[in-house]
Amino acid sequence: MDTRSSPDPIIGQSDNFLAVLERVSRVAPLNKPVLIIGERGSGKELIAARMHYLSERWARPYVKFNCAALNEELLESELFGHVAGAFTGASRPRVGRFELANGGTIFLDELASMSMRLQEKLLRVIEYGEFERVGSSETIKVDVRLVGAANVDLPDLARRGEFREDLLDRLSFDVLTVPPLRERREDILLLAQRFAEGMAVELEREYFAGFSPAAAAALETYHWPGNVRELRNVVERAVYRLEHARQVVEEVEFDPFASPYRPQTHTRDTERPSTEPTVEPDQTAAEAFRLPVDFPRIVAEYETGLLNRALEESRYNQKRAAELLGLTYHQLRGLLRKYQLTGNEQDH
Ligand SMILES: Nc1ncnc2c1ncn2[C@@H]1O[C@H](COP(=O)(O)OP(=O)(O)O)[C@@H](O)[C@H]1O
Ligand SMILES: [Mg+2]
Repeated sequence: MDTRSSPDPIIGQSDNFLAVLERVSRVAPLNKPVLIIGERGSGKELIAARMHYLSERWARPYVKFNCAALNEELLESELFGHVAGAFTGASRPRVGRFELANGGTIFLDELASMSMRLQEKLLRVIEYGEFERVGSSETIKVDVRLVGAANVDLPDLARRGEFREDLLDRLSFDVLTVPPLRERREDILLLAQRFAEGMAVELEREYFAGFSPAAAAALETYHWPGNVRELRNVVERAVYRLEHARQVVEEVEFDPFASPYRPQTHTRDTERPSTEPTVEPDQTAAEAFRLPVDFPRIVAEYETGLLNRALEESRYNQKRAAELLGLTYHQLRGLLRKYQLTGNEQDH
């Protein structure tokens, strides 16, 4: 659960980005569900938070949750809660995110990864505010405003039968599409300057001396597949590599893996999405990715995938799961907290 009292500042002056912010302000006071569509790292989460804090629900809970991190069973119990004994490992009852968000807003990221069955349950809670905890027949009523995010084309998924049409209709009261960074280049240096200053503060330097014209031009012309998140990483890395505060950033490195000693990869001519690698027998996992990639996200996905597998295999016995992963119990607990895979008692 998000306990901050105010959202992070949103930076941007380009017309197409300001138009999105304008629509956020308009739709925020309504109790309608809203969809935010945009590439990874484009600021969907920031916009969802703004939607909440500009609504009449601002003083009530703001709960955010990423639907892609968990399998169907765990996702259902995270969202809707469960009763004791609902499934193996459910020794205690658990309150779901919808109950926690009562009176406020729930932000569901990567909505498209939800199974058809859970989509049906989601539709019911949006339409009637009703659901049951897993393993229970008692209907619970809540008043929650839903903000959903996706980085895929939902109408296309619906056409292919992978997303419920009725849910899509219900969610699409207003659809805000966040333009990718490469479509709002005026914002790049503005953001870069803020991120650089923030990094200088973090490094306890007195100031940030700026970007050389060449570095600024490089930032402005790059295609930014990872959008603002990637820009932040690139800028922070460049600032952190400076020897002292008076130095200007003259070089930016877009690919942190670049090195003459980098292991050779096989050339491959088939296009595949960089985040869904298929590992072939003669490949290491890393070679299955087409660069550039969003490193933190892929590592996070890989780690959550392994954690979930070990939890399932061990039937949610965390000591056993730690053993299966060659981790200490402490290390496992740390990772579960990091990815919010812990039981209800730890994460709010
Ligand atoms: N307009 C913006 N102003 C300031 N920071 C931004 C902006 N857009 C994105 N960010 C930052 O970039 C990162 C990714 O944003 P996020 O909202 O998580 O993207 P998404 O949810 O679309 O993947 C975060 O660190 C966020 O604070
Ligand atoms: Mg996000």
